[in-house]
Amino acid sequence: MRMRKKKNLQRRMEACSDLWIRDPVAYRGRWRELLPGAQKLRLELGCGKGRFTADTAATCPGELYVAVERVPDAMVIAMERCRDRGLKNVFFIDGDAAALSDYFAPDEVDLLYINFCDPWPTVKHAARRLTHENFLRGYREVLADGGQIHFKTDNRDLFEWSLFQFPKAGFELSEVTRDLHANGIQGILTDYEEKFHNLGTPINRCVGTKGPLPDVPIAVALGELLPGWEVRTAEKPEDLLPLYAQCTDFLSLEEPCTPQESAENTLNSIPPRCVPSQKHVLTLYKDDKLAAVLDLVENYPRPRFLFVGLFLLAPDLRRQGNGRAIVDALTTAADRAGLDRVRLACLQCNPQGHAFWNAVGFSDLREGTLMGENGAPVWILQKLAQ
Ligand SMILES: C[S@@+](CC[C@H](N)C(=O)[O-])C[C@H]1O[C@@H](n2cnc3c(N)ncnc32)[C@H](O)[C@@H]1O
Repeated sequence: MRMRKKKNLQRRMEACSDLWIRDPVAYRGRWRELLPGAQKLRLELGCGKGRFTADTAATCPGELYVAVERVPDAMVIAMERCRDRGLKNVFFIDGDAAALSDYFAPDEVDLLYINFCDPWPTVKHAARRLTHENFLRGYREVLADGGQIHFKTDNRDLFEWSLFQFPKAGFELSEVTRDLHANGIQGILTDYEEKFHNLGTPINRCVGTKGPLPDVPIAVALGELLPGWEVRTAEKPEDLLPLYAQCTDFLSLEEPCTPQESAENTLNSIPPRCVPSQKHVLTLYKDDKLAAVLDLVENYPRPRFLFVGLFLLAPDLRRQGNGRAIVDALTTAADRAGLDRVRLACLQCNPQGHAFWNAVGFSDLREGTLMGENGAPVWILQKLAQ
């Protein structure tokens, strides 16, 4: 539904300035300061005119409630509703669900609501659905472990499709129902829900609980090929920091940045035209100590290629055959995962790195012609998966 442009929108928004967070990025990691002592932070995506927002916030005054809505003409109505009810625990962001990790720090959110999101019925627009795996992977960045997504929709096709998306992004499903109100109204209704319920449309609902990400075939194969090493998937900068803080040689190759910034960059950078499910940041532990990091992108730059964005080994484990063992295992793991070749770009200001890759069987494809992320010249190297 398209909202009619509101007259005096700006004036009405200003009149709700106590609830309207104009610079949400400034609150990243600090949202609870808005309600000191808040037990939980609940987040709603696409709150529309805010009936559910206001009623839910009113029933849990000890919890902080933040609603995100990208259409200000709808959001202003939601804000006015909450203001007129005197609610002090609810705040609004006129922003996009795709930018959640800019607004919230890792683990900051306990519960996330997606109510009656736009279904985007054609396949070519599937990636715009707020329950697409790529969106869900973004939400898991800000959700605490065990945090939940509560999803409701009238659209059965969207619902059935979404049930496949949740597990792919590491959410365990529960409370799955295709007729929520079969025995009378359950829970708090949204504006859309009331409309559809009155028309007799059954309402679908499920809960997704954040658990571990599903096994990544290449990580499983790598673990099998490297006895004595434990392979995990990194999700937050803290998973990488113990190694990044030691590897000053690596940090000096990058634009000046701290280990924290570098770890965030490893986790968040995705090559052009790639989606988050193609990328895996793996951490390799030896004797319970973080010993190596691999940043891998499957099917990039072409189908059946494995691109190594980064391979970092702890300084005290170098020159003992560990690097070669990991790279040999990686090329075999790539083969087992159905990939044909392993490719990487090595900065030309890193001749030691180049010598390492040549020594472990990688051949130069092109030299000096391609530019790295920051415009620096790189060697492109490749080895067949085997
Ligand atoms: C169909 S309405 C549902 C509104 C409300 N949740 C309800 O159930 O009554 C979907 C809402 O989500 C908002 N929306 C869609 N995509 C969004 C996004 N990427 N970020 C934030 N809001 C979004 C739309 O502007 C719209 O207000």
